[in-house]
Amino acid sequence: MSVWRIAGGNRLEGSIRVQGAKNAVLPMIAASLLTGCETEFLNCPALSDVEAAVDILRYLGCKARQEDDVLNIDSRDLCRSDIPSELMHRMRSSVIFLGPLLARCGEVRASVPGGCELGPRPIDLHLEALRRLGAEVEEREGEIVCRAVKLRGAEISLSLPSVGATENAMLAACAAEGPSVIYNAAREPEIESLQEYLCRLGAKVSGAGTPVVTVNGFHPCGSVGLRVMPDRIAAATLLCCTACVGGDVELQAVCPEHLEPVIVSLAEMGCRIFASGNRLRIISGGRLRAPRAIVTRPYPGFPTDAAPLLMAVSLRAEGSTVFIENIFSSRYRHASELRLLGADISTHGSLALVNGVETLHGARLHSTDLRGGAALVAAALGAEGETEIFDEGHIGRGYSSLDGDLRRLGADIRVE
Ligand code: UD1
Repeated sequence: MSVWRIAGGNRLEGSIRVQGAKNAVLPMIAASLLTGCETEFLNCPALSDVEAAVDILRYLGCKARQEDDVLNIDSRDLCRSDIPSELMHRMRSSVIFLGPLLARCGEVRASVPGGCELGPRPIDLHLEALRRLGAEVEEREGEIVCRAVKLRGAEISLSLPSVGATENAMLAACAAEGPSVIYNAAREPEIESLQEYLCRLGAKVSGAGTPVVTVNGFHPCGSVGLRVMPDRIAAATLLCCTACVGGDVELQAVCPEHLEPVIVSLAEMGCRIFASGNRLRIISGGRLRAPRAIVTRPYPGFPTDAAPLLMAVSLRAEGSTVFIENIFSSRYRHASELRLLGADISTHGSLALVNGVETLHGARLHSTDLRGGAALVAAALGAEGETEIFDEGHIGRGYSSLDGDLRRLGADIRVE
């Protein structure tokens, strides 16, 4: 358990580099198992979800070493295809290892990842995609066993554009004989980044970024190097922190086009945002106003992961902000913590309504999940007095150094 102590009110100023994307590197780490190869990931964020993925690789017999933001993987000595439950439970996205292990070993055995802080997290679409590719899938007593003597190319229609199921289907399809086509695929930029890595590994994949992704053959190459794309949610977090307390901050190494819906909402609230190449500058001062409703949707819609951060910004904005969450059923657990700061929030199922208040005051809070925890940090920066946030490792799952970044920008923040 760590305790974040934040004295609110310091304007944020300066320039900061945004970390590499957690959600891009995790599926690529899993993809490195598809064949015995060496990979060097540059700009890999040092965070606990990456550590959990690396521990899975090591358990499977692979070598993996991270120094600063360079992660080296050697998957030539893979020697097993089971993942014990304690490793599966450390990270919900460990389900992404099913596809590549099945592809490489013809079998995978793992426990069901279970629900999480955001509500039930079914994996039916992942398993259905593997079945379509010819795998036999058994689920019993919390364990999943998938087997396939030979995977064969297939048409896979996802009933909703799940990011993880699209990735798992792409990964398993690499080992299939004949072409596979994934319809209603997720279009997130992280899927495009996975395609790039798979192509460098020797797979023929096209269509990522559109709803139809095609995989057609795999001729493994030797070693691969890749720079991890910028983390759009970490960038959104720093933008929202600046909006909450005011300031003038430049983000380096970002893809502004990945952040468009977040930028539009912050601009509606009165922040001035300038994009130039791979930089974004935000200037925020004075009282903000409520934006149009924030409705989360799959990419290119408003990202569900950024909604808690926009909620933090809306707490002191003039007027009422409506949030509609369309992806996860329990995304508002941080709302009751934000109320302790003096926020006026009501929630009803997928709907949340924030009536802006003049001031927030410091309080003792508990982080509820990764992005909810970051939202508490952002709100605390804009609150009067000191806030303590008790965090059971949620924030470190997704940020390599949120406290360090904010301190460099002038925030009064300590983590013990
Ligand atoms: C990924 C991101 C996560 C983000 C989410 C939505 C990673 C590591 N995580 O998670 O940060 O919040 O996308 O943008 O990239 N669903 C099913 N059955 C399935 C799979 C999903 O019903 O088999 C449902 C989920 O319950 C959820 C929705 O589909 O309601 C979207 O989930 P999905 O896109 O799969 O999210 P993840 O890949 O888990």
